[in-house]
Amino acid sequence: KPLRYPVICIDGPSGAGKGTVTWRLAQALNYQLLDSGALYRIVGLKAFEAGLITADTNQTIDETAVLALTQSLEIAFVPNNESGRVDILVNGEAVGEQVRNETVGGYASQIAVFPTVRQALLKLQQDMATRSGLVADGRDMGTVVFPDADVKVYLTASAEARAERRVTQLLNAGQTADFEAILTTIKARDERDENRTTAPSKPAEDALLLDSSTLDANTVYEQVKKHCQDQGICF
Ligand code: DC
Repeated sequence: KPLRYPVICIDGPSGAGKGTVTWRLAQALNYQLLDSGALYRIVGLKAFEAGLITADTNQTIDETAVLALTQSLEIAFVPNNESGRVDILVNGEAVGEQVRNETVGGYASQIAVFPTVRQALLKLQQDMATRSGLVADGRDMGTVVFPDADVKVYLTASAEARAERRVTQLLNAGQTADFEAILTTIKARDERDENRTTAPSKPAEDALLLDSSTLDANTVYEQVKKHCQDQGICF
């Protein structure tokens, strides 16, 4: 086996707590962090801005055009210790918080079904493991992008628990939140991500399954950390 840096994969649906656990692991281990969802979000947002996607979820999207757009983007990740997140630069420019919203999440999910677009983003993701240890957050980290990763975790939670968390998040941010509408959106996105043909969201065969529905973020972190240690990662 060639010498390589350790890779930890945290996959699962949005709102299960992947972001928090990924960030904490990366900090504790001094590893890089790969927020793969952000890549799909950027492409989704740019495709929307280019008029390739509309708000209509039943539209037909031109895969070739989205691929060309993807290939025209130069994407870089820069950790930001103040926000506890990773800043993303596209063609040298910082991408705002707008990529994080649910509408853009929907665009991301729609363009993420395209095999050629996924392929175009593959090398960028894999290259991140050639420089240092890596914690990778996504849907197909353990199954497709890093099949020989040292640690694989599939973190889930019920759609209701995830919708509840999202409502709390929005209210805390001083925004309004409609539980039923959020639940419907979450279910639609899960359905698309889990049932697409290429790289569907699913646990790798050797992944630890963890359901965070009734666990707080700290407990999730401690359980994932314990699993990493069992797999030979030293903290
Ligand atoms: O994790 P997230 O909510 O930021 O992801 C947004 C969308 O991007 C998600 O609904 C599906 C897609 N995605 C993907 O297909 N593969 C990944 N590894 C990460 C995200």
